[in-house]
Amino acid sequence: MPQPLRDSPSAHLGDRLEDVETPSLIIDLDAFEKNLSTMASFARAAGVRLRPHAKTHKCVEVAKRQIALGAVGQCVQKVGEAEVLVNGGVADVLVSNQIVGDRKLDRLMVLASRAKIGLCFDDASQIKAASDAACRAGVTIDGLVEIETGMQRCGVAPGEAASLLAKQIANSPGLRFAGIQAYQGKAQHFRTPTERKAAIDVAVQAIRKTLDALDAAGLKSESITGAGTGTFHLEATSGVYSELQAGSYAFMDADYAANQQADGRPSEFAHSLFILSTVMSIAGDGWCVVDAGLKSFSGESGMPLVHHRPGLTVVGLSDEHSRIDLAPGTPKPRLGEKLLLIPGHCDPTINLHDHYVCIRNGIVEALWPIEARGASR
Ligand SMILES: Cc1ncc(COP(=O)(O)O)c(C=O)c1O
Repeated sequence: MPQPLRDSPSAHLGDRLEDVETPSLIIDLDAFEKNLSTMASFARAAGVRLRPHAKTHKCVEVAKRQIALGAVGQCVQKVGEAEVLVNGGVADVLVSNQIVGDRKLDRLMVLASRAKIGLCFDDASQIKAASDAACRAGVTIDGLVEIETGMQRCGVAPGEAASLLAKQIANSPGLRFAGIQAYQGKAQHFRTPTERKAAIDVAVQAIRKTLDALDAAGLKSESITGAGTGTFHLEATSGVYSELQAGSYAFMDADYAANQQADGRPSEFAHSLFILSTVMSIAGDGWCVVDAGLKSFSGESGMPLVHHRPGLTVVGLSDEHSRIDLAPGTPKPRLGEKLLLIPGHCDPTINLHDHYVCIRNGIVEALWPIEARGASR
């Protein structure tokens, strides 16, 4: 099939940041590496496994760096993401999601002959279909029951209903019952620590109720997995979660930066992901316009922030433009000046780009392909 024509790389190794073509997706390597090691050290000290979510970074190089620091593997949401990671050499991938459709299940089972694969279920018919697919391929995969934690997305009711599905997994050829998926996604962006704690307390109760039902059925949960960048401290110290799935911590977007931390301390993670943009118009009275818009970052979680430029506020987005208002007394940026924007939401922003331009001390040190961008099936 003909490949889509994509942009050529926006930079070469050794370029200065100011010479990188815009818009470009930038990683500040010092901040990124520190974020990765901060989370790895936290998980080690807390005695929980770390399985970062690749729905954030979509990149084999990032996955390998997380694993080199101690992560047990990766999470994905889509079979296409799993294919990219396994083809790139990742040996342990959990699809923290439901997969419906025989063709997709067959693609997933192909991977199970080369890597340890896990899959989540919240319905008996999904379990039957996955077991049939595993038998067709002659493989065995891990099956986890996803429970509803208060997030109101996927997940069967905790307790007896979850235990019935676990029993079905345990009795299905080609499947091995491996545990409970319990991600509370809404809680990640509750702004206050009190709200986040209350939500995770509910998730923990749902897990305990399910563990009691599994116990009565004689089933053991090897893995209780969930958590994101907003709440991972709570899951790690809950006494029930054994694995953290956080993803955004590697980059820290503007939405996560708006979460208040306990005791008013700043987040332990720094912004490491930016859109480099160029000021393309200064004709407006009190604003300027840069050349990055919705083709370069998502807007569903709010406006990007202008990095280290007080007085500049992004107020409007269109496909190829962002309008930046100037606070009274703020000098207007020059035409052609480069501005770094911190995206509102990292995952869908990364999905718009072919490669990361990785910068250290103002110089391009690496270009990493984003192999799983657009892997939506
Ligand atoms: C199932 C699941 N686990 C983990 C995460 C990672 O969360 P975050 O990127 O907020 O750390 C997500 C994000 O949407 C998710 O859907």
